[in-house]
Amino acid sequence: MPRPHISLNFALSADGRITSVAGIASGWTSQADKDRFLHLRESADALLVGRGTLEADRMTMTAPQNPLRCVVSGKGRFDPAHPLFHTEGGPIHLLGIYHPPTSIGGTTPHHSSLPDFLATLHRDHGVEKLHCEGGATLVRELAELDAIDEIHLTWAAHTLFGGREAPGITGPPGDFLPASRQFELTHFEPRPDLGECFLSYRRA
Ligand SMILES: NC(=O)c1ccc[n+]([C@@H]2O[C@H](COP(=O)([O-])OP(=O)(O)OC[C@H]3O[C@@H](n4cnc5c(N)ncnc54)[C@H](OP(=O)(O)O)[C@@H]3O)[C@@H](O)[C@H]2O)c1
Repeated sequence: MPRPHISLNFALSADGRITSVAGIASGWTSQADKDRFLHLRESADALLVGRGTLEADRMTMTAPQNPLRCVVSGKGRFDPAHPLFHTEGGPIHLLGIYHPPTSIGGTTPHHSSLPDFLATLHRDHGVEKLHCEGGATLVRELAELDAIDEIHLTWAAHTLFGGREAPGITGPPGDFLPASRQFELTHFEPRPDLGECFLSYRRA
């Protein structure tokens, strides 16, 4: 599948969860986590999130180089009052997988599968590097497609979420992926002062 290079960034609790069972946004785990989050955006041609993350974290998806701001929905329903649509930044591309996305002025609508959307961003919009900031539903499909090249994690050892249904980066514990995905550790930065560790992995 022709597609951009795809990286992910997540913060994980000590027990590997990206949020609590209640799905409440946990915010930055530390100032260093926030700094790294913003730094990772800076080399991206496009940022990508699922509609759940857009809503939960009230994301506006800005960076100095004005990357494309891409959001994935199944049903295609977007709230025109969301801050994303009222904040200056890169061009906004909305994907509705099952239904066309809500028509919102100044946005580019797409109605296709996720792989076709990734191919369109690459072919028609010059996206070489796409950086995904969650959430789990979106990343689960990227993992099923075997379309993840880099993973950046903040492992926040000071927090335990617990709860059988609390999601990891590919969602609540459940079915295995169709096959194992192989990554190698490329960056290991323990920060005992913060109770955190910054990690990066690259597709092996
Ligand atoms: N710890 C972290 O670093 C981190 C990072 C990101 C998010 N989070 C947390 O994760 C939670 C959100 O998780 P989530 O799983 O709901 O997030 P999500 O993947 O951002 O959003 C899920 C929604 O996006 C759409 N979607 C995404 N992929 C799809 C696909 N392949 N097929 C069809 N629809 C798709 C659907 O929208 P429709 O309902 O519109 O059809 C679905 O309901 C929030 O609590 C957020 O704070 C944490």
